[in-house]
Amino acid sequence: MGPPLLKAEEYDFKGLQKALKLRPEGIIDEIKKSGLKGRGGAGFPTGVKWELALAETGEKKYIICNADEGEPGTFKDRYLLEERPLKVLEGILIAARAIGANEGFIYIRGEYTEPIKIFKKTIEEAEKQGVLGDNIFGSDFNFKLTLVRGGGAYVCGDETSLINSIEGKRGISRIKPPYPIQAGLFDRPTVVNNVESLAAAAEIINQGADYYTGLGTKNSRGTKLICLSGDIEKPGVYEVEFGSTTLRDILYELGGGPLKDDSFKFIIPGGLSTAALTIEELDCQYSYEGIEAAGSSLGSGAIIAIGQKHQLLEILQRVGRFYMDETCGTCFPCREGNRHIDYIFKKHHNGKFYQEDVDILADIGKAISGAARCGLGQTSLSLARSLFYKFPEELIIGGGQR
Ligand SMILES: Cc1cc2nc3c(=O)[nH]c(=O)nc-3n(C[C@H](O)[C@H](O)[C@H](O)COP(=O)(O)O)c2cc1C
Ligand code: SF4
Repeated sequence: MGPPLLKAEEYDFKGLQKALKLRPEGIIDEIKKSGLKGRGGAGFPTGVKWELALAETGEKKYIICNADEGEPGTFKDRYLLEERPLKVLEGILIAARAIGANEGFIYIRGEYTEPIKIFKKTIEEAEKQGVLGDNIFGSDFNFKLTLVRGGGAYVCGDETSLINSIEGKRGISRIKPPYPIQAGLFDRPTVVNNVESLAAAAEIINQGADYYTGLGTKNSRGTKLICLSGDIEKPGVYEVEFGSTTLRDILYELGGGPLKDDSFKFIIPGGLSTAALTIEELDCQYSYEGIEAAGSSLGSGAIIAIGQKHQLLEILQRVGRFYMDETCGTCFPCREGNRHIDYIFKKHHNGKFYQEDVDILADIGKAISGAARCGLGQTSLSLARSLFYKFPEELIIGGGQR
């Protein structure tokens, strides 16, 4: 694929030019009004995060664009980096202007060789054309952006691990508080935002919060990039307006339904750390609140469809292995707990487990999430737990009847 959109003159940076005419508070008000929630998985309101960072004092602040995209099944940020790099750059610049940062980083997943190439060129071009550097668009705003290539660990997508990684330290999560907006990169106030959040922020400033709030629902404003993958006819990245469709329609209409001679067994609606939904549960509205009401969460927007050809045991074992490999090991219960979960998943009896094993898993899950510094530990059992709950006949000896 040839690098698109690299020439800054082909893109007018209308959102940034508008932002440069506003006071930081004005930019933040617009983002708050839009109701934008962070698209990295946790859904924290972007405008509130920027407001808290603006209120922090100190001469130096940083903005970091989180392009680590390690959540299995998620590839929307790659799409934006490859196809809309200038929109992402514009979002970074607007965020920087809003919080008062003159320096920032974009941390791109190490395996993303093409996006890294494209974004490197984007930065070079932007520097040449005065979109990065001093007195951007003739204003008093100066900004330097550095690209950092990720080290390949899932946990480095967590904002505090990512900050450690940029500082050249081991990618392990930090204890919070202090939160990054208080003491983040090199102990300075730092905003970490997902690629999609920043691209959306650029579009909100460009088109106005009123336009954005006209899309979606009260609690889920705007649109979302979703990634369809797994046993589905038409995998890919799609943009949907929140509240305008259901998970079922996304899977069967946009995604073209299951593969030939197969049917869906269950789906994972928001990446590997979210609970499974069965085929009977797919009529929920696609929105944060719709998926929560169905018992799961929207997460990163990665919808993974699992067909009947897969054994549940195979899924459990793969997921267990993933978390065992990816825990950073800082919190003892997460390190040892995920190792033990992997062991239990291997110790099955013709694909099933004794109720005692399921009880031990539940205890381990409580210990891990009670001690976890980061979301990896808090969610490593979410999917497995939901599979035991929803498919007891298939997974528990005696069908889970005590
Ligand atoms: C283990 C783990 C991995 C994460 N991976 C990513 C990631 O790849 N990209 C991302 O934007 N956020 C990721 N996050 C969430 C970030 O910590 C952070 O909440 C996010 O970048 C904030 O951006 P937002 O407010 O724009 O969503 C991850 C969190 C955890 C706990
Ligand atoms: S919860 Fe797990 S992954 Fe997160 S910091 Fe602790 S040990 Fe590391």
